[in-house]
Amino acid sequence: MPLPTSVKLFEMAPRDGLQNEPGAIVPTATKIALIERLAKAGIKHIEAASFVSPKWVPQMGDAVEVMAGIKRQQEVVYSALTPNLKGLENALTVGVEEVAVFGAASEAFSQKNINCSIAESLTRFEPVLERAREAGVRVRGYVSCVLGCPYEGEIDPNKVAEVAKALYEMGCYEVSLGDTIGVGTPLAAKRMIDAVQQQVPIEFLAAHFHDTYGMALANLYAVMEEGVSVIDAATAGLGGCPYAKGASGNVATEDVLYLLEGLGIETGIDLQAVIDTGYWITNELGRKPSAKVALAKGPSH
Ligand code: HMG
Ligand code: MG
Repeated sequence: MPLPTSVKLFEMAPRDGLQNEPGAIVPTATKIALIERLAKAGIKHIEAASFVSPKWVPQMGDAVEVMAGIKRQQEVVYSALTPNLKGLENALTVGVEEVAVFGAASEAFSQKNINCSIAESLTRFEPVLERAREAGVRVRGYVSCVLGCPYEGEIDPNKVAEVAKALYEMGCYEVSLGDTIGVGTPLAAKRMIDAVQQQVPIEFLAAHFHDTYGMALANLYAVMEEGVSVIDAATAGLGGCPYAKGASGNVATEDVLYLLEGLGIETGIDLQAVIDTGYWITNELGRKPSAKVALAKGPSH
């Protein structure tokens, strides 16, 4: 298949990027400033917060304050994770326009991450989708561990397809396929997408690849060749899941933008502004961006 002519980039840094940050809680004002900088750089889809239990993920405990505090740009969609009705109700109090439920293709990971089986999670998501529909809020779905699980090892692509289909049929407008621990390689990624697209049309699928083994860009290119045109990425390569041991950051937004520019795929996002934002946020966190492109180009001042 020819490469897509346009790509939707879904920015993960404020949520996936910060949820696993060790040490002190990142101040709410820093989270808000990060989201506002990313929007200013031209990013149109930002996962801004997570309405999960603060006992499970303390870094996301200020989701209400973050969502209420951002100065919203009209053309930007700010979304948030909502694992259950409680999360959704909290998110609705601050006017979210889009939320996400997250399941897994691995039973063990589902238990560790959201404290229930895959089947129970799907049952739990149904009222979330129903309530979101009533409220006029779109719902994205995630499937984790699509190319491997920290507890179960290899994952059958047909299991990924089964969970993706359930989320799609429940009403998720898009299903994001997560290589949570970044163990995938291009051929495995292609095979997984081929299995999933038998059940869910390719235009409704997103690639959410972590870069633990440095394969994320290669895997993205492989699935773009299959027709995937929605890419999740995190500025500075931030990220990781607290319930996936060894999971490193998401593929870096800077690196994805450089790849897309090289392929002649327009995104409308200002690469240098993203690089600068990556330097700024990692400086706040006491380190450097892991994005190769950011390291090569450097900050603008
Ligand atoms: P549970 O303990 O089974 O929940 O956790 P519960 O319903 O039994 O409630 C227990 C307590 O939590 C109660 O409080 C609830 O009120 C509270 P208590 O009575 O003890 O004081 N509670 C909540 N509080 C705030 N917001 C809520 C909420 N729900 C219950 N929404 C639960 C189940 C799902 C809540 C928990 O397991 C959880 O929060 N898990 C989240 C884990 C997480 O955020 N992981 C990272 C995100 S997923 C990811 O990173 C992967 C992804 O990036 C894709 C990829 O890379 O693959 C998306
Ligand atoms: Mg992730």
